[in-house]
Amino acid sequence: MGFYDRWILPRLVDVAMRNRSAARYRSLIVPKACGTVLEIGIGSGLNLPFYDDGVEHLYGLDPSEQLLAMAGKKARAVAFPIDFIAHASEEIPLDDSSVDTVVMTWTLCSIADPVKALQELRRVIKPDGTLLFVEHGLAPEIRVQAWQQRFNPLWSKLTGGCNLNRKMDQLIRTAGFEFAELKSEYAEGPRPLSYMFSGRAQPALGQRP
Ligand SMILES: C[S@@+](CC[C@H](N)C(=O)[O-])C[C@H]1O[C@@H](n2cnc3c(N)ncnc32)[C@H](O)[C@@H]1O
Repeated sequence: MGFYDRWILPRLVDVAMRNRSAARYRSLIVPKACGTVLEIGIGSGLNLPFYDDGVEHLYGLDPSEQLLAMAGKKARAVAFPIDFIAHASEEIPLDDSSVDTVVMTWTLCSIADPVKALQELRRVIKPDGTLLFVEHGLAPEIRVQAWQQRFNPLWSKLTGGCNLNRKMDQLIRTAGFEFAELKSEYAEGPRPLSYMFSGRAQPALGQRP
């Protein structure tokens, strides 16, 4: 890992994700988590203040040890036990059907193999569990999509692998989830960066991972 990825990128991620629009989504999505919770791509722990009393145990997974160290400092202020796991979500070191809620905020865009990661979420989540998500992705308008496709290679290099052009709803559905709530809309900011998919999904009945 180079100097940029090790020392600069984690700080950039932390600063970039502290904005009013993200905080509004966090406040709408994260308090719905309950029971045993797995947050994938927990980053610097910006969701931690938004968890509610219903959380019994949180697993905070992220491949970046630098971001996990930042999250560890914020963890001192929460009431429930947290285990940090330095791992990518393409292989999650948790048992099948062991998690009540998975939280995923602006993470699926950065996962190298999003299909494999979602299959892992499907494996660890209980049959009556919930996936809570906010992700940016491919916009519906052709003109915005063209910018997203054009800009994606450079953007991805600068941001440690973030992609602008993923169809988040399709990826989640194809992995065997069905939506209980799905909202897609532009948030604040430049259109190629701000088309958000947010909501709640559950394992689709009859579809095994
Ligand atoms: C844009 S940041 C979002 C951080 C945090 N979820 C938030 O809402 O502030 C993307 C996160 O995805 C993490 N990430 C990248 N690849 C990953 C993978 N394969 N599995 C899990 N997390 C990953 C990064 O380390 C980073 O913390």
